[in-house]
Amino acid sequence: MSTFWSIWITVITLIVIIGCAGLLYWCAKDKMGVEEGKSMGHSFDGIEELNTGLPKWWVGLFVFTIVGCVIYILLFPAFGGFGNGLLGWTSADQDIVSKQDSIERAATSNSQYQREVNKANELYAEVFKKLTHDEQGQYIAVEEVAKNPEAVKVGQRLFLQNCAQCHGSDAKGFTGFPNLTDNDWLYGGTGDIIKTTLMEGRNGVMPVGGLLTPEQLEGEGLQNLVSYVLSLSGRKVNAVEAQKGKELFGTCMGCHGADGSGMQALGAPNLTDNIWLYGGSRKAVEETIIHGRNGVMPAWKDILGEDKVHIIAAYVYSLSNPQ
Ligand code: HEC
Ligand code: HEC
Repeated sequence: MSTFWSIWITVITLIVIIGCAGLLYWCAKDKMGVEEGKSMGHSFDGIEELNTGLPKWWVGLFVFTIVGCVIYILLFPAFGGFGNGLLGWTSADQDIVSKQDSIERAATSNSQYQREVNKANELYAEVFKKLTHDEQGQYIAVEEVAKNPEAVKVGQRLFLQNCAQCHGSDAKGFTGFPNLTDNDWLYGGTGDIIKTTLMEGRNGVMPVGGLLTPEQLEGEGLQNLVSYVLSLSGRKVNAVEAQKGKELFGTCMGCHGADGSGMQALGAPNLTDNIWLYGGSRKAVEETIIHGRNGVMPAWKDILGEDKVHIIAAYVYSLSNPQ
């Protein structure tokens, strides 16, 4: 909150508290000079107005409320910018601006959010450990964990919380975000490789122009190349164009392989299988070649920890290897 709004709220709150206290004092005071319980000297149709004080219990409650209010304000961060009150309570750490901050603060933070997260982590750490480790305390292979329905269920829940926003809740992906259910892998689909992908993250770099010079792509160049790329997955294209395009494909082979079937070490997609990360229309392939692509899969080891990653890897593995 900015200083202005902190002051604004402080002033209004104080006015209201002091106003309430003043009102109570004014009402409770015998200001009529008439003894309690005696007539005020007014009579309406024979009904007399007596000077009757406010009920004691009611005044008591009112005072209690005002005092409680002041104590509450001292304990909790009621005034925004002016610190966090005597208890130092915050709902969440609002000054965290980077992932590094949040990792460092996790251990020392006293915010309610972080305390609850830490409590949950402690509680579930055992569960995750049990699902991923054997009796000797070694990791069970991802492929084996994937056979445990309970682990897969837990993995699915973790996936929905952490991965679905990019890969979809059914893990079938979107343009630029790979489908994880089709057994077609950019980086490889063994348990270990999937786990490495999750732990370390991935960054697929398709260079601008696919390392061809703008001159090579000029004129018919691009069109011929796209025809050749599309022919790799059996699409009907102009054979003459494709033949000419093949000559340009030489620079692509370093990453996509001589036959275009891809290279998992680089995350260079297989271009022969008619499964497209960025779309298989002529336009989409042109865009890919002209502008390049740069897919980023975040690293999860610091965010989730190895046990959770191991379980999610098992879930992902199970998607294309149903038991
Ligand atoms: C911010 C978006 C984003 C999030 C969140 C995300 N991913 Fe990814 N993921 C990607 C992108 C983009 C790629 C493709 C990287 C590339 O193009 O090289 C990818 C690649 C992958 C791959 C490699 C697929 C292959 O074919 O080899 C796996 C496996 C994967 N993600 C699983 C996950 C899991 C599990 C999670 C949750 C823990 C997750 N991803 C969260 C964006 C994301
Ligand atoms: C330095 C390695 C490298 C070179 C050289 C390279 N590519 Fe790529 N290419 C990649 C990578 C990595 C990706 C995946 C990018 C991503 O994951 O964001 C990719 C993606 C693509 C795609 C998108 C595939 C899909 O499924 O949507 C096409 C098409 C493509 N490349 C064609 C070419 C062509 C044609 C050439 C040669 C002119 C070429 N590439 C040269 C590494 C390379």
